[in-house]
Amino acid sequence: MIQKPPGIDDIFPDKIPLWNLITGSARQSFRLMNYREIIIPVMEYTDVFARGIGNETDIVSKEMFTFEDRGGRNLTLRPEGTASVVRAYAENGEYNRLALCKLFYIGPMFRAERPQKGRLRQFNQFGAELFGDGNPYYDYEVISMMEDITDRLGIRDYTLIINSIGCPACRPAYIADLKKYFSSKRDLLCDDCKRRLEKNPLRILDCKKESCSALKSGSPPITGYICGECGDHHSKLKAHLDSGGTKYTEDPLLVRGLDYYTRTTFEFVTEKLGGQNAFAAGGRYDNLVEQFGGRSTPAVGFAAGIERIMLMLEGVVTVDDGVDVYLVHVGGEALEKAVSAAKLIRKNGYSADLDPNERSFKAQFKRADREKAKACIVIGQDEISSNNFTVKRLDTGEQVSISESALIETIEKMVAR
Ligand code: HAM
Repeated sequence: MIQKPPGIDDIFPDKIPLWNLITGSARQSFRLMNYREIIIPVMEYTDVFARGIGNETDIVSKEMFTFEDRGGRNLTLRPEGTASVVRAYAENGEYNRLALCKLFYIGPMFRAERPQKGRLRQFNQFGAELFGDGNPYYDYEVISMMEDITDRLGIRDYTLIINSIGCPACRPAYIADLKKYFSSKRDLLCDDCKRRLEKNPLRILDCKKESCSALKSGSPPITGYICGECGDHHSKLKAHLDSGGTKYTEDPLLVRGLDYYTRTTFEFVTEKLGGQNAFAAGGRYDNLVEQFGGRSTPAVGFAAGIERIMLMLEGVVTVDDGVDVYLVHVGGEALEKAVSAAKLIRKNGYSADLDPNERSFKAQFKRADREKAKACIVIGQDEISSNNFTVKRLDTGEQVSISESALIETIEKMVAR
């Protein structure tokens, strides 16, 4: 039997209503905040991610699906959306000339991580990116948009963690002291972190190895290094969060595993997901557009993992995915009556299904159950002779005999949405 590769999942129809609920809630929130959809390519030149996310990050150094195309070009399946959106924005004159550009995306991302619950090699994100204004109000806006989506989905059990990682003016002093601190513990660091110590000490703070994690709590907190402007930006963000009634906690170690951030970083975390506790995350990246060859443009955004949100809602939210009406018949003339009734029902916006094979009533009712039908229309010999329909509501068992002219009205009442 041919099987799917590890960490790559099918999403079968029973999960699609939940998928649609999540992406529908995100779309609604994006629309209310005036964000417009962009569909970015699934693959880019490798350099887009290497340059954007940073060579020393786990994503770029270990997790990218990279290959050479037939023309010898180096391509990578996108591990995240931000670098691609920045590349698209910087490249497109119409959009990068806008004073403010608000974009959102929904789609698959690829990371060659060790698969486990909530950690896939192909997973889906919805995310938003805003270009053109460095006002901390917009950091608040993207955070509150994710908060709005969690509200719509009824997710309450989570914590929003925020931090500021400063800017190129104030961060070097912090990194120098961080390097000093970890150099004194060099022997305790894993091999990767020994390399990071030389190339990008900030990345040691993302290391998931227990030996390295244990050292983090003694490291100097970034809070003491933030310059006046970054401090002011962070205070204003917190004031907006307070005004909006958004609860948060601060964590000076939240640097996030991507190199492009400046100032604000944030994560939405929950204990419901075990090891993979972040279901959404983001931050500000004021230097990335310029790094991609565009004009200097402040930017901020976030992305959320759809599969992780699905795991949080499975069994908690039941989404209706049943057929509205299942037609049960005795074949022959009754089948033809069922075919024409099904057409009328669908024309009126209700879903309808039937089995064209002449199976027993019992088998057809079983099928109706499996299809989670809300109502059955029964067409037997009696219904043929009387030219009526028997309509049965499956949850209560209520049953009525009606003429064709009353069919839609009856279904409307029984299939309450
Ligand atoms: P990220 O933290 O790498 O940030 O990913 C965002 C979310 O994607 C995570 O919180 C998680 O829910 C989901 N995710 C990440 N990796 C996996 C995986 N292997 N399996 C399942 N879900 C996963 C970014 O991607 C940034 N682009 C966010 C951003 C946007 N920053 C600014 N703008």
